[in-house]
Amino acid sequence: MISLNVNGVQHRLDIDPSTPLLYVLRNDLKLHGAKFGCGMGQCGACTVIVDGEATFSCVIPVSAIGPRPVRTLESLGTAEHPGLLQHAFIKHQAAQCGYCIAGMIMRAQSLLERNPHPTEQEVRAHMEPNLCRCGTHTRILAAIREVAGLPEPEGASATAQLHTQAKATR
Ligand code: FES
Repeated sequence: MISLNVNGVQHRLDIDPSTPLLYVLRNDLKLHGAKFGCGMGQCGACTVIVDGEATFSCVIPVSAIGPRPVRTLESLGTAEHPGLLQHAFIKHQAAQCGYCIAGMIMRAQSLLERNPHPTEQEVRAHMEPNLCRCGTHTRILAAIREVAGLPEPEGASATAQLHTQAKATR
């Protein structure tokens, strides 16, 4: 029997201890925020927060979690009442296909909880392990900057404007 604390709720699960955390979240607990991307710890679509640390849930067996609390996107807000980061991601239209976004938000959340006012370099370094195949990193960073109270770097708003204009003329 595995004991697991997810989003403040304690669960007791009769499952194989070697099951990756991601599978338990999605299949057993029906929490579908975290996504299966590569399944090899290389893309970040499955990122959740384990005891304050952004964690790839596809490669960590559920038995390795122990008493550490797990948090998923579902802990931050709802469609009706999005959390601060979720709201900023919507405002900046940071998703294209959207598949990576739950992982991006959870990685950013882990940074902002530890350090609410990171530098531009700290944000970039922290977000580096998570990939977006659509290439919306500019907008993702803009959303995180807004919550972190960081100014846009020189030229960033001009680039964002160009992207918006290019999309509008497609
Ligand atoms: Fe876990 Fe890609 S699905 S890192």
